[in-house]
Amino acid sequence: MSNHNIILIKGGKIVNEDFSVISDVFIEDGKIIEIGHNLQIPSEVRVIDATDKLVIPGGIDTHTHMELEFMGTKAVDDFHIGTKAALAGGTTMILDFVIPQRGSSLLQAYDRWRTTADPKVCCDYSLHVAVTWWSDTVQSEMATLAQKKGVNSFKMFMAYKDVFMLRDDELYAAFSMCKEIGAIAQVHAENGDLIAEGARKMLSLGITGPEGHELCRPEEVEAEATQRAITIAHTVNCPLYVVHVMSKSAAKVVSNARRAGRVVFGEPIAAGLGTDGTHYWHKDWAHAASFVMGPPLRPDPSTPGYLMDLLANDDLSVTGTDNCTFSRCQKALGKDDFTKIPNGVNGVEDRMSVIWEKGVHSGKMDENRFVAVTSTNAAKIFNIYPQKGCIARGSDADVVIWDPRLTRKISAETHHQAVDYNIFEGMECHGVPVMTISQGKVVYEDGHLHVTPGTGRFIPRQPFPQFVYKRIDQRDQVGKPCAVVRKPYEGEVIVI
Ligand code: URP
Ligand code: ZN
Ligand code: ZN
Repeated sequence: MSNHNIILIKGGKIVNEDFSVISDVFIEDGKIIEIGHNLQIPSEVRVIDATDKLVIPGGIDTHTHMELEFMGTKAVDDFHIGTKAALAGGTTMILDFVIPQRGSSLLQAYDRWRTTADPKVCCDYSLHVAVTWWSDTVQSEMATLAQKKGVNSFKMFMAYKDVFMLRDDELYAAFSMCKEIGAIAQVHAENGDLIAEGARKMLSLGITGPEGHELCRPEEVEAEATQRAITIAHTVNCPLYVVHVMSKSAAKVVSNARRAGRVVFGEPIAAGLGTDGTHYWHKDWAHAASFVMGPPLRPDPSTPGYLMDLLANDDLSVTGTDNCTFSRCQKALGKDDFTKIPNGVNGVEDRMSVIWEKGVHSGKMDENRFVAVTSTNAAKIFNIYPQKGCIARGSDADVVIWDPRLTRKISAETHHQAVDYNIFEGMECHGVPVMTISQGKVVYEDGHLHVTPGTGRFIPRQPFPQFVYKRIDQRDQVGKPCAVVRKPYEGEVIVI
């Protein structure tokens, strides 16, 4: 009789961000108990043969919007379907965004998200919170969220004018508060004023289709906002995380800032690494509309490869998906006006395979960098390492058995997501998750899911992650501006 909650993974290659080694992994009660050869284990154990396969930390998707109410409708992947799809793709944790309406309480919105997600999630999850307006109440709620609710990251929008957008003085205040409470400031970096003007111009020119979405907000609109956010964050010495870096121009801005010593992290997403914005010019309206998201995918076809180069070389740090899925009939809300197409794409299920294919199979990164950008770096930045993000004694048993030789073709016909298309349709990917273990239980095996809604846990995150804040603290200590000591001026002063 084997006990399926006690698992021995035998003969696989353990891949962490810093080394790979062939070894066995013993799992009990949701934790990795031991790693090594000839382990002393109970007899009633389930043995999984991982010979010729990789044993990697479960993926962490840093950016999802399950069942988000947005642009007049609601994303179709809910916390149940979305997390099931994540597990099928080798992702064992998601970080979703609480987005309060302007003028409403951050804490109440957080409670609402917890009430919605807790009974549905099939994998562990955590929450970022968006700051969509500014006031003393917002400021004190940020502190409560950081100190009592396990939130150490706040997203500020520089786009979506009159909806979520903050002005520069509000960004300054929000970043200052993040710094005070030990949180990471995240930005959606696009110039919302220029987008509003650009959209008006495109519509006046008779451009109403999805191509107008990209034309009204070209690369420099993203790059300008990225630079502005970096400047403001640097002014208050606050760590900055740029979500969904979509263009070469914005990626260069992040890369230059990192080389200048700024504490900034860039997050490309599966969509931006796996496909491009030429689809906006597709003759089939529904096809073109399915790629609409903000910031847009870029029509320069060399963009995905460029973003992957920067990700491989640590100019960009982590990967999410911005999974925010609207089916064809929902996208059709904007059939006569691209500004009304609900923004968002899929990715939560396919991120790992897309990055393996475009990153590792292409030769741009090795298996260790793959683990760093799909899991470990996220765990470090958001302060859940080494609980998550590594195969080590004492870590959560969120483990994926990955077969780099197998291939699979991505298709909406076979995916587990609720959305009725897939932006990666037809893509052949090397690198397949053959088994996913979440909290020490096999939840995906041979193409079959064994999940129970509500078994995922909310993972609280402490403020002041060392990976992010040590440099910030060091600069505060040594980099304080100080006055020049000089004798008082004793000469003449004009009388006004
Ligand atoms: O198009 C997008 N990105 N939709 C989700 C909201 C956001 O800005 O992340
Ligand atoms: Zn965004
Ligand atoms: Zn998003």
